[in-house]
Amino acid sequence: MEDVVDLSRSSGRLLITGATGFVGGRLARGFADAGFSVGALLRAGSSADCLDPRATILRHDGSTSDLHGLVRAFAPDAVIHAATHFVGVHGPEHVAPLIESNLLFGTQLLDAMARCGVRALVNFGTIWQHFESDDYKPATLYAATKQAFEDIAAYYAEAEGVSILTLKLPDTYGPEDRRGKLISALLQARTEGRQLALSPGEQRINLLHVDDVLSGVRVALDRLRGAPAGTHASFALRGPETLTLRELVTRIERLGARPVPVLWGARPYRAREVMRPWEGPLLPGWSAGVSLDRGLSELIETP
Ligand SMILES: NC(=O)c1ccc[n+]([C@@H]2O[C@H](COP(=O)([O-])OP(=O)(O)OC[C@H]3O[C@@H](n4cnc5c(N)ncnc54)[C@H](OP(=O)(O)O)[C@@H]3O)[C@@H](O)[C@H]2O)c1
Repeated sequence: MEDVVDLSRSSGRLLITGATGFVGGRLARGFADAGFSVGALLRAGSSADCLDPRATILRHDGSTSDLHGLVRAFAPDAVIHAATHFVGVHGPEHVAPLIESNLLFGTQLLDAMARCGVRALVNFGTIWQHFESDDYKPATLYAATKQAFEDIAAYYAEAEGVSILTLKLPDTYGPEDRRGKLISALLQARTEGRQLALSPGEQRINLLHVDDVLSGVRVALDRLRGAPAGTHASFALRGPETLTLRELVTRIERLGARPVPVLWGARPYRAREVMRPWEGPLLPGWSAGVSLDRGLSELIETP
């Protein structure tokens, strides 16, 4: 057994990628609150305007050697890799950013970690890696790049002894979500009374609050701490409820005592729409703590 990250030390050092994004931003704030020294690894052009001010900003120029230098200088106990390029239905213009952000950057990061002796990584996957299947079956090219990164990560676990835990997420939601995803669009339509064009709405959705991603990462780091070097595993995180999109809208209407104007069926289901989210093995020792009613009510009350 090798201690890869000591969570009992409030002086622990965590390097977070994607800290200007939704999940990474919540993680940076949560771990800074808990007394960790947080490093935020940003690309050259990223805006740090919404980043927690306690985070140390490390900007990388895109080269592998620069990343090595930054990881060596910050010397984290563990890395949380939340950077991604997401696209639901890709076009030709998305191929390069998907590969650059979801494969190249992550591989450079793992290489820097291995060379600098950083031995613990929490990574994120997506339930879309399992389109109607417990086996790997990507719903989208984005999901395929997430799987490809896990396959590359297996090399760094096997050959370099980096311990890696991948948390596969469903749709996430919560405050300070600037991604313009489903929940934000529904709440905006509700507030503005503007009609929102949606699919027929029979697809089932699982929603995980971003605070529960934070609690999942804490459990994952703890698990890595007790794991043998080179551990490589993936688990699901899942919100407490899975419901259809129509049921979700009805729920928001009930909680917010106001209609959400939706034009059902104004848009087709997308190609390979996930109608039934994958329910893989949950991260041991973790369960979601934020009920859907509580998470939605807080967003309705504080838009
Ligand atoms: N949220 C969900 O519903 C969901 C569902 C399934 C899986 N996941 C996974 O959860 C993780 C977090 O997702 P999220 O929703 O928080 O993402 P997000 O809000 O879209 O944020 C993406 C972050 O990645 C950064 N980034 C992108 N390309 C980069 C690169 N080449 N180098 C460095 N940074 C780069 C962005 O920085 P810039 O400021 O430079 O743009 C941004 O901070 C990802 O691994 C995602 O695949 C999320």
